[in-house]
Amino acid sequence: MPIRKLGFVLAVTGALMFAATPVEIEKKIDALLARMTIEEKLGQMSQASFPSGLPQRARDEIRKGRWGSFLNGGTPQEKAEAQRIATKESRLGIPIIYGQDVIHGYQTVFPIPLGQSASWDPELVRRAARIAAREASSVGIHWTFAPMLDIARDPRWGRIAESLGEDPYLAGVLAAAMVHGFQGESLDAPDSIAACGKHYVGYGAAEGGRDYNTTWIPEALLRDVYLRPFEAARKAGIATYMSAFNDLNGVPASGNAFTLRQILRDEWKFDGFVVSDWNAITEMIPHGYAADIKDAAWKGIGAGVDMEMVSTSYYQNAKALIDSGALDPRLVDQSVRNILRVKFRLGLFDQRIQPENILPAQPAADGLEIARQLAAESLVLLKNQDNALPLAKSVRKVAVIGPLANSQTDQMGTWAMGGNRSAVKTPLAALRETLGEGRVVWAQGLRNSRDDNPAGFQAALETARSADVVLLFLGEEAALSGEASSRAVLDLPGAQEELVSEVLKAGKPTIAILLAGRPLTFHNVAERANAVLYAWHPGVMGGPAICDVLFGDTAPSGRLTTTFPRTVGQLPIYYDHMNTGRPPAESGPEATNKNTSKYLDLSFTPKYPFGFGLSYTTFEYSNVRLSTPTLRLGEKLTIRADIANTGKRDADDVVQLYTRQLAASLTRPVRELKSFRRIHLRAGEKQTIEFVLSTDDLAFYKPGGQLSAEPGSFQLWIAPDSASGQMAEFRVVR
Ligand code: BGC
Repeated sequence: MPIRKLGFVLAVTGALMFAATPVEIEKKIDALLARMTIEEKLGQMSQASFPSGLPQRARDEIRKGRWGSFLNGGTPQEKAEAQRIATKESRLGIPIIYGQDVIHGYQTVFPIPLGQSASWDPELVRRAARIAAREASSVGIHWTFAPMLDIARDPRWGRIAESLGEDPYLAGVLAAAMVHGFQGESLDAPDSIAACGKHYVGYGAAEGGRDYNTTWIPEALLRDVYLRPFEAARKAGIATYMSAFNDLNGVPASGNAFTLRQILRDEWKFDGFVVSDWNAITEMIPHGYAADIKDAAWKGIGAGVDMEMVSTSYYQNAKALIDSGALDPRLVDQSVRNILRVKFRLGLFDQRIQPENILPAQPAADGLEIARQLAAESLVLLKNQDNALPLAKSVRKVAVIGPLANSQTDQMGTWAMGGNRSAVKTPLAALRETLGEGRVVWAQGLRNSRDDNPAGFQAALETARSADVVLLFLGEEAALSGEASSRAVLDLPGAQEELVSEVLKAGKPTIAILLAGRPLTFHNVAERANAVLYAWHPGVMGGPAICDVLFGDTAPSGRLTTTFPRTVGQLPIYYDHMNTGRPPAESGPEATNKNTSKYLDLSFTPKYPFGFGLSYTTFEYSNVRLSTPTLRLGEKLTIRADIANTGKRDADDVVQLYTRQLAASLTRPVRELKSFRRIHLRAGEKQTIEFVLSTDDLAFYKPGGQLSAEPGSFQLWIAPDSASGQMAEFRVVR
């Protein structure tokens, strides 16, 4: 079933999703709230790291109802024991909700989210999240802190690895897919886990790409870009959100009543709960927004953050705040209600058993198959000079060189808490399996991506000389992306460029495969290698997936979901920017006009645009036709185009639909992605594909929150990427 349709079914049958009806759940919550002490209520609003080893003190606290939730840690047996104490020995028997960062797989580690997004394959992304839910739930995890829905337009920010790219529409479609995958068809099924949309909101706009940094986002941009994926997750029925670390327009996101109450609750009618990020409530003190922890508690609860992660300001201060009349006790009741509602929906109160461990030692075959396919679909071919790829399987000898050819840990990527190194198949292992040991020669060259010791260069050069083709595995190790891993320089770290120069002396056809958590700048390698394949951190089956593509068993079909800069000086750079009053031109008379919006020392265009990716075949787009040149507000436009596979290989293509409104009450981006379709075309085949666009799809937010489409002239493109395509024009009238 297509993912949008699935979302619809889940939305209209929402009432059937839970064993108890919504009315019954509210009644049960009423009964509990009537019996709860203020300490028990504040306990529900408190989350701590799992008390390692479950010492006596923690057992006593659980028995008293001190903790509503634990995160990250605890063996399944310890979790089961803590749950037994909570449900059988505490006064009210309220279960604990266990949360964990299950971000790109649990035991079966899938590509990092940025890599998954490059597949443009919502159904496969959904299936991967389903596997993660199955594995995580089987060791007693009820709730994942995923998906991360931060729009990231600056690859200096290390958490771009966890993002679904720079485009709000694509991120929204994939967000919905992940929510459906984690939560399944019914939240209380034993293999479903609650999802958490994070980090609400604006975190990805950190100034200078520095993690945790300040964000300034005007309301129209906030609503049009940064909130869109969160709203898509809401429509997909997401159970929880996490409030972010960042200062958003002068009010920290974890104390921001505008985003947390007005938008999330009043406008979107969200009725799950919001957890803060780690210490984010008390970090309002260094932000300069709260005077002390009492003030932080007051502001966090007041803004609508229901559960406090790690810091304990709520538990310590809320009672005194209520007693002094400063805090309305109904706000506490409301938060507890939101939390209990999710616990009921998950079935934690009744049929859900807390497993002690039913996960086999190694990932299951069906998950590995999805991991392999998703990794293969996420690979983006950026260069393929003279069809250097695919390689013939009859190749005599292949040299495998580089710090990322055989690093299980780095291949897993930034969040691999449940992952197991021994399950990882590296490119080196997969190549040996494909070709046989004797036809693969190997030299690491550098011990890791940051190594700058050239001691291994000579061996690398000799290895290259002995082979017919060189496969260079370069990039950045997993620890260089993710949280608190921002970089000011995006070039290949360590002495990798020098290693490339050395290996090229062998004069062999050279393929660069880059494993990284973000877009890197690798100009010299891109110029000198015969082909470049971008592999992200591809997860447990990255090796076999890379082999599938290198030898042409699968044609590369990944497309970039972030713009690749030529150099950090271009940042931030993203495709859906405004035109400016002096737009620069690449060609034509304006190209030499100095007074346009460009650089003196470098092109204004990206190295690789959003949506870009090559294939082993060629596609031709033609004959774009519209059902009408003019439509009224509220009507629909049907767009058809012919896509032909004009090469000699069967392959998938990702056809993209972009629009632009030429004049409106607010300036509009030069292009906006409105839809896309991944299609399979046999060699020589031509397909007509159809998109239906309604004028609602053209709507944009005005300050104040009004969402509407405006009449005017539009361009649209049926395109292979954001910088090219077949254009057509239409008008919208009242
Ligand atoms: C991160 C979150 C994560 C949380 C719990 C925080 O530092 O920002 O993304 O879910 O820790 O591990």
